[in-house]
Amino acid sequence: MSNNSSVSAVTDAFIKQFHAKPEFVVRAPGRVNLIGEHTDYNEGFVFPTAIDREMIVAATPNGTDEIVAYSLDYSETDRFNLNNIGKSDKHQWADYLRGVLSTLQKRKFVVSGFNAVLAGNVPQGAGLSSSAAYEVAVVTLCNEIDKLSIGGKDIALIAQQAENEFVGMQCGIMDQFISALGQEETALMIDCRSLDYRAVPLKLSDRGYSIVITNSGVRRGLVDSEYNARRSECAEGVKLLSKMTGRKLNSLRDIEIDEFETHVNQLPKKVAQRCRHVISENKRVIDAVCALEKSDLQRFGELMNQSHVSLRDDFEVSCPEVDQLVELSQKHSGVLGARMTGAGFGGCTVAIVANDAVDSFRKAVIPQYEKQTGRTTEIYVCASTAGAQLITGVTA
Ligand code: GLA
Repeated sequence: MSNNSSVSAVTDAFIKQFHAKPEFVVRAPGRVNLIGEHTDYNEGFVFPTAIDREMIVAATPNGTDEIVAYSLDYSETDRFNLNNIGKSDKHQWADYLRGVLSTLQKRKFVVSGFNAVLAGNVPQGAGLSSSAAYEVAVVTLCNEIDKLSIGGKDIALIAQQAENEFVGMQCGIMDQFISALGQEETALMIDCRSLDYRAVPLKLSDRGYSIVITNSGVRRGLVDSEYNARRSECAEGVKLLSKMTGRKLNSLRDIEIDEFETHVNQLPKKVAQRCRHVISENKRVIDAVCALEKSDLQRFGELMNQSHVSLRDDFEVSCPEVDQLVELSQKHSGVLGARMTGAGFGGCTVAIVANDAVDSFRKAVIPQYEKQTGRTTEIYVCASTAGAQLITGVTA
């Protein structure tokens, strides 16, 4: 679905539901993380890019305290009052909308009622941040309707808070941050401690390469419980390493790999593995960005491959199908690197593939994978897009 047809589909649906053109239309993209996985909630570094898969919301204020929202994807309407926002007992999809509005109120923003139509083409449960795109789109919408003057970083923080406190997933800041602040043709190197970031031009097409995302067809399972378990193992690592080093570490960001290795034998095995992944992954992000800036794509690809090994063996968040897909991808000629992307336990892989090898990748890797695993898969050759924005709006 292209951006335009999607915007026009949502606008048409709005006219059908509410008998007038929407006054506001906003979009917010999903993302693919190129390197730096499970580092964001450890105050580390990540390197995601916003992709041309997005959430679109069309809306018009209705002058009441009611929200009336129609989901084009589910063909369902959710209706609730702003003075009493709880979870929906009927429509799970509506909880992201409700969560954002409730979080804005918690932060003392006054939001008005509106009629809305929502639709998205970020695959769900695939590790491409469909929920972050949704949350960021709604914060962006309210920001525009009520002229709240919320800046990009705060849009991301509000969206993350909605996910953490209302939806109940203890995610880090990466997904919402890139959805809010992404820039075309770049990836953002984000320091998840300070929230400083640098937009690094990818210039992949000039360099003859594409970002190829492949959906393993394994819908992410166990993600909430295992994700939260990894977070506590990392926190346990920080506590134990603080004792061992005699320094107060705030996060795994505060220890280098060499110093960590001197204490590794005193840590419980699983905790040691989790810490090793995070500490080494932070270094890989820095090295990968440096390689990209020197146009050393070969090195960038090697670091992606190393990241996968670390996620598979130390952090243990991959699964056999994704490992299989990564292995087949890495073996294909013209592929510089491939790894799992996102939280893991299924979902997508990301690979950097030479433009003239994308076709053969599609024709060779996909059927081989499907034959070996019995899964059905999809590939997306993605463009790197801008973050959330107003597409149509009423000017003051
Ligand atoms: C999910 C979370 C992110 C991040 C990744 C793993 O996408 O929402 O905050 O932790 O997993 O890198």
